[in-house]
Amino acid sequence: MVNPSRIASVEDARKFAARAVPRVLFDYVDGGADDEITMTENISAFRRIGLLPRMGVQITEPHLAIELFGTPLAMPVILAPCGLVNVMHPDGPKGVAQAAASRGVVSVLSAVAGVSLEAVANGEDTSQTPMWFQLYSPKGRSEWEGLVERVAASGGYTALVVTLDTPALGNRERDRRNGVSIGHRVDVRSATTLALQIAGRPAWAARMAAATLAARRSPRPPGPTVGLVAAGGSPFTWKDISEIRERWKGTLLVKGVLSATDARSAVDSGCDGVIVSNHGGRQLDGAPATMSVLPEIADAVGSATTVLVDGGVRRGSDVVKALAAGADAVLIGRPYLYGLEAAGAAGVARILDIFRTDIERTLILLGCPSVADLDRKWIDLKH
Ligand code: GLV
Repeated sequence: MVNPSRIASVEDARKFAARAVPRVLFDYVDGGADDEITMTENISAFRRIGLLPRMGVQITEPHLAIELFGTPLAMPVILAPCGLVNVMHPDGPKGVAQAAASRGVVSVLSAVAGVSLEAVANGEDTSQTPMWFQLYSPKGRSEWEGLVERVAASGGYTALVVTLDTPALGNRERDRRNGVSIGHRVDVRSATTLALQIAGRPAWAARMAAATLAARRSPRPPGPTVGLVAAGGSPFTWKDISEIRERWKGTLLVKGVLSATDARSAVDSGCDGVIVSNHGGRQLDGAPATMSVLPEIADAVGSATTVLVDGGVRRGSDVVKALAAGADAVLIGRPYLYGLEAAGAAGVARILDIFRTDIERTLILLGCPSVADLDRKWIDLKH
């Protein structure tokens, strides 16, 4: 496992991750749907946005803290809900939650993280920063009703994030090529491919085996919340969202909004916020890059609701660009998963530290005193 201090950037973490875990796990994180056009465009769209610095001001300590739904956050970065976190490293979803809490940011537990929501909600050190829970509901209403009740009863989550963009799982061809396609039967050929991949990563295998044996000696935790295989299947409708609104007293967000029309529907359904997202380019390939639609969505609903964005955020300057374009905060997925695969929870914390330093430096170079001051005058959208 790499010493986290050797990770200088998200791209570094990505390279270390590729060497640390079996290929199937790296590709699950690194890959997207079909030709990965949307996934790549997410990054390109950030690159096309220019930053417009002001000179002659001295900023020594830029202000990064924000308040979101009444919760103070150390910076406008949130750890996005991601699947299979339990097998990437033994630190797993609890480790991710603790790394986030240690850095004063929120993390969102995925319904397909591979653990039960109660197991993570009961974690010891995660109390200082609340967690959010992401909802899938492959089996439809009977299932989401029960899940919403469990999330409320656990007392561990202040916000519910309902993912709208997964009526079916996207076509992730890297997963297929690895011979282990989530949702498909494992045959002798795919089992052999997997065995060879695991054999090539003995340190990962030893860590996971040790953690599994240790877990067997302790009381059995509840099983996963929802299986990844079944993640797709029953899309949420706006009617479902209104009904969830009636049942859930906490903060309600929808994730997967890519148009001003849908953002307005979210507001009309009683949501407290929208997450502009194309699922990191893992669902509909050809869907727009999030930064190409964010300005229009922020203009349409930004004064009525909270607007968050994810997809392609790799540097602190991307966070600054997203806020200047109208987002209240961003979510990162792949960056912290690379950190987790490379160095466990310490790797996640390292990625957050890199973002923090990056955002601070970017604000100093821009001549902007605070993330709260970021608006369109700081960016060139047609760079
Ligand atoms: C699950 O949500 C995934 O994108 O793999």
